[in-house]
Amino acid sequence: MTTPTAIPTAIVTGASRGIGAAIAPELARRGYHVIVNYRRDSAAAAGVVAEIRQAGGSATALAADVTDADAVAEMIEAVVADRGRIDALVVNANTAPPPFAPLAELSWPAFAAKVTNELAGAFHITQQAVAAMRSQGAGRLVFLGSTVADYVGGGRLAHGTAKAALATFARHVAAETARDGISVLTVAPGAVRTEATAAVLDPAREKILAENSVLHRVLEPTDVAVAVGLALDLALRPATGSVLRVDAGWSVLVGGPTA
Ligand SMILES: NC(=O)c1ccc[n+]([C@@H]2O[C@H](COP(=O)([O-])OP(=O)(O)OC[C@H]3O[C@@H](n4cnc5c(N)ncnc54)[C@H](OP(=O)(O)O)[C@@H]3O)[C@@H](O)[C@H]2O)c1
Repeated sequence: MTTPTAIPTAIVTGASRGIGAAIAPELARRGYHVIVNYRRDSAAAAGVVAEIRQAGGSATALAADVTDADAVAEMIEAVVADRGRIDALVVNANTAPPPFAPLAELSWPAFAAKVTNELAGAFHITQQAVAAMRSQGAGRLVFLGSTVADYVGGGRLAHGTAKAALATFARHVAAETARDGISVLTVAPGAVRTEATAAVLDPAREKILAENSVLHRVLEPTDVAVAVGLALDLALRPATGSVLRVDAGWSVLVGGPTA
């Protein structure tokens, strides 16, 4: 039995750690009941839920591999059954660690896995959440893109191609859903300190990145979380289809980044 609730509901995919684990509390602070989606790490997801509840917010952890259409369907059904609606979706899960290799060294399976998993992690949940949002006549989506969609180098061919495809996907979804009261933004961070980047963001590289940014620093997950919270604000509806770059001013330097 569906129980409509007064508190809006947001799903954050891949919210057990990294950027997602910062987005979830930010959305809770903004008054959402947050579905903390994760794939494997139930203890980490429970930790994020506990942090939100301790701060007076509302959250539930839900496991689902977002690259699997059936698993996504189960999660969406559970959310709609429990909450009555889906007000916001943040497509964040890091479904495909990038192979860092130039064209000459990149295998087709590695390239295809990156692009396919990136898009599978967005496609199924977007399709299913948008169906629920259409029936409500409202909804907001934020996709986690990346500056690698526009800036090349460092063996990021597969990663950049995947994130560029994701940004194009987001633009088409924005166009197709605008008349249903749904708005879509892509938040595109530069390098952020998370577990995913720990291996490549050593102190030497951090120094280069900081020196090549206007703000002279690398990003923390909370920098991105605040931007996602703002991107979900109703006031940003006129910006639907656009990309909000959050990179400490890395990409505004003339000539682009050198890192
Ligand atoms: N970090 C950066 O510098 C950076 C820069 C630009 C853009 N981004 C983007 O920001 C997003 C988050 O990155 P991050 O650095 O925070 O990643 P991360 O630290 O590796 O966190 C990954 C999260 O995604 C979840 N996840 C992975 N595969 C999943 C799947 N198939 N289904 C559901 N959840 C899944 C993990 O859950 P489990 O652990 O439970 O499996 C975990 O919660 C990604 O889209 C990434 O491309 C990151």
